[in-house]
Amino acid sequence: MTKKLHIKTWGCQMNVYDSDRMADVVAPLGYMPSEDAESADLVIFNTCHIREKATEKLFSELGRLPALQKEKKAKGERMIIAVAGCVAQAEGAEIQRRAPYVDMVFGPQTYHQLPEMIARVTREAGMVLNTEFPVEPKFDALPQQSKTGIGAFLSIQEGCDKFCTFCVVPYTRGAEYSRSVKSIVSEAENLVANGAREITLLGQNVNAFHGEGEDGTVWGLGQLFYRLAEIPHLKRLRYMTSHPRDMDDALIAAHRDIPQLMPFLHLPVQSGSDSILEAMNRKHTGDDYRRIIDKLRAVRPDIALSSDFIVGFPGESDADHKATMQLVRDIGFAQAYSFKYSRRPGTPAAAMVNQVPEEVMDARLQELQALLREQQISFNQSLIGKVLPVLFDDDGRHNGQLHGRSPYAQSTYIDIPAVARERINGQEVMVKIISANQSSLNGAVAVD
Ligand code: 5AD
Ligand code: SF4
Repeated sequence: MTKKLHIKTWGCQMNVYDSDRMADVVAPLGYMPSEDAESADLVIFNTCHIREKATEKLFSELGRLPALQKEKKAKGERMIIAVAGCVAQAEGAEIQRRAPYVDMVFGPQTYHQLPEMIARVTREAGMVLNTEFPVEPKFDALPQQSKTGIGAFLSIQEGCDKFCTFCVVPYTRGAEYSRSVKSIVSEAENLVANGAREITLLGQNVNAFHGEGEDGTVWGLGQLFYRLAEIPHLKRLRYMTSHPRDMDDALIAAHRDIPQLMPFLHLPVQSGSDSILEAMNRKHTGDDYRRIIDKLRAVRPDIALSSDFIVGFPGESDADHKATMQLVRDIGFAQAYSFKYSRRPGTPAAAMVNQVPEEVMDARLQELQALLREQQISFNQSLIGKVLPVLFDDDGRHNGQLHGRSPYAQSTYIDIPAVARERINGQEVMVKIISANQSSLNGAVAVD
């Protein structure tokens, strides 16, 4: 008998990946994904703890479930409620206390044990709390990914040993772990056999990858890319999220040598001020970052850069903020994410005494975002008139439109007659860019 599975996901691409894998794990038990939470047999909230108010948001979403649970019960059915992800990992006991109707609480490292947890919940009344960091690697226990689009995600590394002083990830995701090259290649081949043409490798610290290679030695990310580039029909490779300290020469050489490796890099810098970078425990300076970008641009001049910024880290002065603005001007980003510093319980920065007032953070964020927006628009507009290979992967926003991605990861739209759509979807096609705005490009198939 098929049962309904409803998963709601917050947070990063890793969580989106994890949610898909949870669906794969429970599919053999008869659970099929459904948009409908109301009549679901299993509801999973896959949560994120990286910034503000995650816990409160979770409790308010959870609040509407007991009524639904009761309705199901009245019909003689059962709704199992699960909280997964990083809030579950960090606040398991709090969830147990405040939401006793939740049946399962489990962290990012244990979702491969979902069938056992479901069995325990259905056998015994009472909650299952599973926030260990088990010794057996989760990835070895997961089934192959069941569904894929043209663009697919593949998690190759998890956890983080860097302990930036603002960040919860080392506590919620645990120590750094890299999968073996063999298992990554096998998953990539399977994705391509199922239609994927672009694969984005995922990891909290993806370029710290150090997995067992096919020859038994330890391989870094650069070496892994050379191997993945041998897979026929895999047209594009990307990766995120990287740390400046792990941008080694082998990875930079991969950007030079491998045409499938797209000219786009998300490389968070967080701040342009050396004293703030030190207080953040980033272990690099603003100039280290500039040097890395110089090296990348020397081998791949068109590489588009993306970053993350935090404004208002404890102790950040006006001069520190100016240094961040200067770094942005020096580098020139194609896109970026910027956030106000948010105190995360249990992290070293949360206990720092010199917290920055909210109004100061607001003003700095506005100023930074205005500059980043300007850079993004100007980067996108610099492509007008150029002819770019676009990999088409989906329908567009309106009828007759097709969506694809440029090499620089922007969404790119073309209008195309219905007859040509089937032929073009999944293909890389040369497109002349006609117009651009902050978030996307518009073009037409180039005729030479
Ligand atoms: N406050 C604000 N932003 C944060 N990030 C991580 N932790 C915090 C925090 N405590 C941001 C960083 C990171 C991105 C994923 O989230 O910029 O790169
Ligand atoms: Fe968090 Fe990234 Fe720093 Fe690791 S490297 S602690 S994931 S910000």
